[in-house]
Amino acid sequence: MANLERTNFGSKIGIILASAGSAVGLGNIWRFPYLTGEDGGAAFILVYVICVLFLGIPVMVAEFIIGRRSRANTGQAYAVLAPSAPAWKWVGMMGVLAAFLILGYYGVVAGWTLEYTVASSMGVFLNDGDYTAFFNAFVSHPWRPVLYMVLFMLLTHVIIVRGVKEGIERCSKVMMPMLLLIICVLVVCSLSLPGAADGLKFLLQPDFSKIDGKVLLDAMGQTFFSMSVGMGCLCTYASYFTNDANLMKTAGSVALIDTTVAVLAGFVIFPAVFSVPGLSVDAGPGLVFVTLPNVFHLAFGDVPWVGYIFSLMFYLLLVLATLTSTISLHEVATAYVHERFRVTRRRAAVVVTSVCAVLGVFCALSFGLLSDVRVFGLTLFDLCDFVTAKLMLPLGGMLIAVFTGWYLDRRIVYDEVTNCGKLRIPFFKFYIFLLKFVAPIAIASIFINELFR
Ligand code: PFF
Repeated sequence: MANLERTNFGSKIGIILASAGSAVGLGNIWRFPYLTGEDGGAAFILVYVICVLFLGIPVMVAEFIIGRRSRANTGQAYAVLAPSAPAWKWVGMMGVLAAFLILGYYGVVAGWTLEYTVASSMGVFLNDGDYTAFFNAFVSHPWRPVLYMVLFMLLTHVIIVRGVKEGIERCSKVMMPMLLLIICVLVVCSLSLPGAADGLKFLLQPDFSKIDGKVLLDAMGQTFFSMSVGMGCLCTYASYFTNDANLMKTAGSVALIDTTVAVLAGFVIFPAVFSVPGLSVDAGPGLVFVTLPNVFHLAFGDVPWVGYIFSLMFYLLLVLATLTSTISLHEVATAYVHERFRVTRRRAAVVVTSVCAVLGVFCALSFGLLSDVRVFGLTLFDLCDFVTAKLMLPLGGMLIAVFTGWYLDRRIVYDEVTNCGKLRIPFFKFYIFLLKFVAPIAIASIFINELFR
């Protein structure tokens, strides 16, 4: 019989770093910059920050409330809090499904980061090369991306089986400070490049005419994706929070760290890209894998050792950020399988790693062997990205807001947010207003606007 005893995170800083570790990932360093590049720079960032404040943070706190109150994984939390309304459990189940789907395709890009770290350690990006061809050859290779994806899954697996405190918390406490240090060093390097000012202008001077339905949907999807909200990931983490953790403060700190890292990633990437004439900022998903290697060798051509260190640090940064996110995705699914089917944590982790690796193989091959397999015109990789980031997470976020704002007993919400009256939260009424009206209406209108475009 499996031991189902639950552990908690050991400290408040552990709670913040683990949650921030989940939030900070490819979403910040890979997805945010390329969306910013595609959607017009500063105007996109402005809409994004508004989404973080009025949608992301309230829904994150709601996930914290559901997780800590129920002390259950996201797949079972709703059954604990709403035993008489079993339909709510499907919100949690959608989260577990999203965890499998996201980990499946996220693991593929995670594998790319590993491959690029290896390549930069061998000095590949210092040579005069065709990096578009390098990228295309790698992602369409019949087994290399699969191998790196599987390696990344195994790395994640090893941390997960060590448990919540020894695995997740310990790693986050080491990796998050390292990540923050690396990104600060990179910002300084990037800003010292000639032509960096144009990159800054792109990031800081909004052109409001760029804001349209696509930008709104992109910004909203990115908010949920980047903050890891909408699928119960932080709900599962919150089920390990101690009773004295301040939920509002934790959410504020996580949002601040997450947004800061995304903007800093912009400060690394755009000045660097603008410093090389002829490179374009709207390269899409290839931005950090095609455009940046060009920067490394063109901008640092005279001082190759700086280019070497810059590129190695950059891809190492990506690996660290990605790993703290893959463990959180893995934990959502592992905690569910472990507690729902009463199998050991180790066995649950094996099931999750295997299922995600199989899904990952299909996503990895969708750039090569399976590139002709299309659903609604999208490759399997793009389909997973679209269905999760643009549909499931915002929909999940809306339902979580409705559940906490309308269904859950107000007393429970108050007790969780104030730790049973011990904390003073002056804007509690405003928070409820955001949950009941602002978040659901905003999410629904952006959806409807996009549907009838
Ligand atoms: N927030 C992560 C990122 O920005 O890369 C991705 C992610 C992790 C999304 C965990 C959802 C999740 F539950």
